[in-house]
Amino acid sequence: MTTSINQIVDDDFVRALPKAELHAHLSGSISPSVLQGLWKRKRAQGQCLDLEDPLTAIRQGERFVDVVSFFPLFDKYIYALVDNVWAVKFVTGQVLQDFEDDGVGYLELRTTPRENLCSNMTKQAYVTAVSETLREWNESRRLADSANSVIQHGNMIARLILSIDRKMTAVQADEVVDLAIKYKFPREVDDKSAIHLGRPLEAPVEERFVVGVDLCGNPLRGEVSTFTPAFGRAKRGGLGITVHFAEVPQSSTGSELSTILSWEPDRLGHVINVPQQYADIIKKRKLAMELCLSCNVLTGLTTGGFAEHHFGRWLKTGCAIALSTDDVGVFGSPLSNEYLLAAKHFDMPPAALVWLSKSAACASFGGRKHMLELIRRFEQRETGGGQDATEL
Ligand code: IMP
Ligand code: ZN
Repeated sequence: MTTSINQIVDDDFVRALPKAELHAHLSGSISPSVLQGLWKRKRAQGQCLDLEDPLTAIRQGERFVDVVSFFPLFDKYIYALVDNVWAVKFVTGQVLQDFEDDGVGYLELRTTPRENLCSNMTKQAYVTAVSETLREWNESRRLADSANSVIQHGNMIARLILSIDRKMTAVQADEVVDLAIKYKFPREVDDKSAIHLGRPLEAPVEERFVVGVDLCGNPLRGEVSTFTPAFGRAKRGGLGITVHFAEVPQSSTGSELSTILSWEPDRLGHVINVPQQYADIIKKRKLAMELCLSCNVLTGLTTGGFAEHHFGRWLKTGCAIALSTDDVGVFGSPLSNEYLLAAKHFDMPPAALVWLSKSAACASFGGRKHMLELIRRFEQRETGGGQDATEL
């Protein structure tokens, strides 16, 4: 790795660095102030009167007692505020803007299709709401793009991953895969031409942004073999597979990890409590990792502080790594700050952070070309128009 970048790693550098965010849950990425807007609106209509103000209910950056105490925040709180199609569209738009403002150039936003009978929101309506918001977003970036005939830094492309929750039944997991296939991004066309051409596939092409399927949810719940048929269908359907992997010791048994690896996932999230024999398989297959520093430290998933995080160990293995936020609305650490933390605790100079960003780009399910172009332009600016500063 060589560089002629003279920059020091500071807030400005990590924000300006074009970054790919590959592990971000929609509902966990909503800022408390956006949730507060919904909360005030509901209260004005006489609803949610027993819900605490989001600004005090979610104290960004505070430690959780453990990972289990973290999950009710979604089921009992955030979902009560984001409970209809209008709200889903509203928060999705805000989340996209927050990521772009942080210098994210390519986002794979993941979310669990969810229904709300009271507001007549079906799972299909939920996915349509998110997809329509992505369409509006990507189209507005395309206009800026064609007007300038170059991809501008700041023009974030957004894609979607649909999540299967560990508490789902096999039938519910199949429903998620049905939706993922219906809304699958036409990967046979590269990013740019897909935007311009359009194609008469199953769902309107301009609303098809799903690039992968995820397994998420409380790691103390569920039996992963329930989902083997669903992930088999997703794989055969040409979707990327990413799985929350070995988050806690209880979800790191040989039987669970071998079952997940039998699905031939493309990427693994968290990858914390991994026995050596599975670490060897991961290295041999060169699986990509989505690693989340602040999330893991604040929920106590990892022991010790940032410097002890397993990011340092995986970095040496040759597996691609995508630093990710997981739930920035809750943990309060934007992706740029995760890069800053990596620089600080793992002694990474500017060129190494550029390398890391390329590593994430290469692990993406569709943003590689776009991201590598953004990073190339960034390097040219930083080096005063010189050659590419780093090679992956
Ligand atoms: P949503 O899928 O957009 O509604 O985002 C919230 C969901 O993401 C939660 O209900 C969890 O299932 C999942 N999630 C968020 N953070 C984590 C995590 O750290 N581990 C596993 N699942 C998570
Ligand atoms: Zn996650």
